[in-house]
This record gives sequence, structure tokens and C-alpha cells, in this order.
Amino acid sequence: MSDTVRRVGIVGIGNVGIAAASAVVHENIADELYISDIDSERAKGEAWDFADSIELTPSRTRVIEVPLEGLAVCDVILVAVTERSQIPSSSRLELLKGTAAITYDIVPKLRQAGFKGTYVIATNPCDIITYLFYKLSGLPKNHVIGTGTALDSMRLRRQLSDVIGGVDPRSISAFMVGEHGDSQIAAWSHATVGGQSLDQFEEDNFDQFGKIDREQVEDAARHFGWEIHKRKGNTQFGIGNELAFFAKSILNDARVVTAASVIQNGEYGQHDLAIGVPIVLGRNGVEKIVKYRLSKKEQEGFNASAELIKGYIKQTLE
Ligand code: LAC
Repeated sequence: MSDTVRRVGIVGIGNVGIAAASAVVHENIADELYISDIDSERAKGEAWDFADSIELTPSRTRVIEVPLEGLAVCDVILVAVTERSQIPSSSRLELLKGTAAITYDIVPKLRQAGFKGTYVIATNPCDIITYLFYKLSGLPKNHVIGTGTALDSMRLRRQLSDVIGGVDPRSISAFMVGEHGDSQIAAWSHATVGGQSLDQFEEDNFDQFGKIDREQVEDAARHFGWEIHKRKGNTQFGIGNELAFFAKSILNDARVVTAASVIQNGEYGQHDLAIGVPIVLGRNGVEKIVKYRLSKKEQEGFNASAELIKGYIKQTLE
């Protein structure tokens, strides 16, 4: 970090960017929040609107509208760009053409402006865009992080909580791995409830909860984003708060375990792509990839998900 002033940037002040901004301001995550959007007047309006509430916020975070290059001073840049005209669709992959073009435009500019911090990317399709950021930014791989299956993992823990008597999702450890999309899979082999393996928990509590329908829980989590999208046209608060959580964890060196889309170096038998796996998140970004020994079925699902991502990466780089 450059000095004691905590600087967070957000590029793309749409529904997601503004939800992230609100969390950054209200949770005392940054001293200065730099926001940038292709519609600079709109972003200025948002910055001024935040300024109106400064007396009511915990840390008097200054929200400042800047041109893209102005984000280069930040410790962390949260990426929430998307095409305004995006067609509502059931697959995040359909957004790729538009968001890849934006990525090719903005990343070299920020590189030129000297950005040396950490990117946290929510832009979809997240795994492919994260990989492009890595390729174009010149930053080390631990400094380029996609939110990936972090939100899906929260959805998984919540769905699981619902069928095991409402145990606090924070007391459950369970992660979605793979693509932030339809091919993601739940790493059930490593799920625990209060430290007890899910298998054991299920056995001990069979009288109360019966057999846990893991497939149903997993499917509900996997498709929950789409269920929201169908109703309100986007998802916003889950992912916006997730972005702010990543910024907070990096700035506070929290070393929290979360799922994220990160560049692989064989940890899960895959190379040269970004894909969702559990990591330790701290000051250096990806402090560590947590290596699960997935079951055979899980590993097959993970590999299929990786192949799908790699196919799209190839197509995007050509
Ligand atoms: C979602 C978006 C971020 O899953 O893809 O809510």
C-alpha cells in the first residue's frame, strides 16, 4: 500500500458499481473512493449524491469522480463495467463480446497510467474477463482476482442452511468451484458444518432433516442469479457487497478464505486460465490457493468447466 490513505477505485458506475460504492462508503472501507464511468457526468452526479450523506457515514469517505486514468492511484480497483445496451440473457457468456471489447480498451490505459494495485473483477463472464485482465495488465497473477464463484458459494451456504434448520451460513464452509456460470459445481466432499463434515452432520441429524437433497441445493444456488435477473433485470446487491468485501479483505489483510476466480498454475490440475477455487485473500491479493482433493466426480465436473472457459478464452484471444 502506498501510504496510510486507503484508496479504492470503481470502474463502471452502473447498478453493481453503485451498490459496491455504497458498501465501501457505509462500511468504512476506504478514506477515498474514486469512481469512473464512460458517462462521466452521471458518475459526477453519483459522487455528489454521496457527498450529501457525508455527515451520516462512519468515516467521511470522500467520493471523487475521475477519468479512467485517475484510478491508477488506488490500492484496489473494483471492476463493474458492462455494456449499457446488454440484452437480457440467461447466460453470462453472451456478454463476452461487449465486455471483452471494453477490457481491451481500459486495461492498457490503466497500465500506461501506472496502476500497480489489485484488480477485483465482477464483470461477466467473470472467469474469461479476469484472464484477459491478467494478460493485458502486466500485473502478477496474485493481483488479478475475479469474484468468480464467491457469490455462488454464499448462495450455496444459504440454500444449505435452509435445509439444515437455519444454521448460520457463516458457520458452514462450502464452496462452489469452476465457472461463475452454469458449469460450476459444489465441492461437497469438503463441506463442513461447524467443522463437522457434512456427511457426518447428515448422519447425526438424519431424524430431523432426513437425506439432504444435494443436487437440489446445488442447482438452486447455481441458478439463483438468473432467478433474480428474470425478476429485476440485473443482480446488484449480492455482487456489489461482494466486491466491497474483497476490497475490505485486501486492505485489512484479512486472510479470509473465500472462493474467487484466479489464475491457475496446476493447483487443480489446470493451467493458464482463471477459474473459481477457494483462496486465502489478504494484502497481497491471492495469498494462497487452497488445494482441495476433489472427489473423482467433482474433479471431472471441474475439468469440464475449465475446458469450457478455456474454449472461450481461446476464441477471445484470437
Ligand atoms: C450474479 C452475477 C454477478 O451471479 O453474475 O449475481
